[in-house]
Amino acid sequence: MRQQLKNFMEAIGKDSIAIIPAAHEVTRSYDTEFKFHQDPDFYYLTGFPEPDAIAVINPSNKKNPFTLFVRSRDPLMETWYGRREGIDGAKKNYGADKAFPIEKFESEMAKLVNGHEKLYYRFGVDTKLDQQILHYLSGQRIRRLKTAYPPHTIIDPTILIHEMRLFKTDEEIDLMQKSADIAAEAHILAMQNVKPGMNEYQVEAMMESYMRDNGASGVAYNSIIGGGDNATILHYVENNAELKDGDLLLIDAGAQYKGYASDITRTFPVGGKFTKPQRDVYDVVLETQIACIEATKKGNTIKQRHELSIELLTEGMKKLGLLKGKTKDLIKKKKFMKYYMHGVGHYLGLDVHDAGRYFTDAKAKNSRPFAPGMVLTVEPGLYIPPDDKDAPSKYRGIGIRIEDDVLVTEDGNLNLTAKVTKDADEIEELMNKK
Ligand code: GLY
Ligand code: MN
Ligand code: MN
Repeated sequence: MRQQLKNFMEAIGKDSIAIIPAAHEVTRSYDTEFKFHQDPDFYYLTGFPEPDAIAVINPSNKKNPFTLFVRSRDPLMETWYGRREGIDGAKKNYGADKAFPIEKFESEMAKLVNGHEKLYYRFGVDTKLDQQILHYLSGQRIRRLKTAYPPHTIIDPTILIHEMRLFKTDEEIDLMQKSADIAAEAHILAMQNVKPGMNEYQVEAMMESYMRDNGASGVAYNSIIGGGDNATILHYVENNAELKDGDLLLIDAGAQYKGYASDITRTFPVGGKFTKPQRDVYDVVLETQIACIEATKKGNTIKQRHELSIELLTEGMKKLGLLKGKTKDLIKKKKFMKYYMHGVGHYLGLDVHDAGRYFTDAKAKNSRPFAPGMVLTVEPGLYIPPDDKDAPSKYRGIGIRIEDDVLVTEDGNLNLTAKVTKDADEIEELMNKK
């Protein structure tokens, strides 16, 4: 049995049962679907890649703790829409002790769920399944005094699974390193090939082609390929403007590899040489980013690291002449937010903005300390709007972000995306190599 599932069974205990559904396909338009993306919690526990499945996990059943309900084999459907694992595949390839056609879920549910104190299930995600479970519970309550024994406590399993997902196993770290390598190599390719006159979409195509060609299932999120002042739009995804000599190009692109995301940003000059004002802003962001990577270690908290990014960027903005006044006041009055308006990073894993709590208390007051096994991004940036009358004109329209993916270890951290350089001189050297 998959280690994740074993750990989960141990965590919920013998008086519990869990119902964990897979995702469904989502209609894109008319009779066409979006590319299927498995529910990450379901995938984490089972590894099962198909839609319309349900896992029932029963730790007190020693012989058959793991039941999967799956789509049945169906030659006609498989000819039209693709192969299915079916009952046999669920058992043979995914370790299910028992497997049933998904249509049998409702009739089997009472047999599986009755006799447990607690049911782990998340309401509010899958309306049809919610209805089936509510129908079962209300039906059983009527019979309760006689023979039935439905669970009396319902617990959302999300927090438990998300806390498990937050701490990566060695096997997960290997997959994340592979995802990071593919994305890093795609960024290197872009640095080597970008030229004035190219279009942003050509850079997108080049990078995404490289990712697919190297085994990624696709991108981890919509790639941001922003030339010139498009780089000042945080979630710019149109990617359809011509790249101009003298402008910077901000690329935020990551790969999805065997479920795991990478998330890298690099900013570099389209023509291969930073101008002085671009370089000045770049170095402020880079120094902040390096210091924040250093601070991503056991003992420090997420809040401390964010405050460090604010402090260093605010100092930098003063040096550049973007802000005036005492650093303390500028921070207190949140003046920095005009040019630095996002967090310095997030958890990374099966989701690009991955699961796990950022606080140690329910009121979200106490920031969580970093601990070995967490993977986080480090991504400070400065974005100076093109029409910002307060900024020195030489800086207007400059947007810079630098982002790496960092694993917290026992004695510091490991930068999973160090392969793609961020040193301005090295970037210029790489871009101008014949
Ligand atoms: N690419 C999404 C992010 O950096 O958070
Ligand atoms: Mn990110
Ligand atoms: Mn990113």
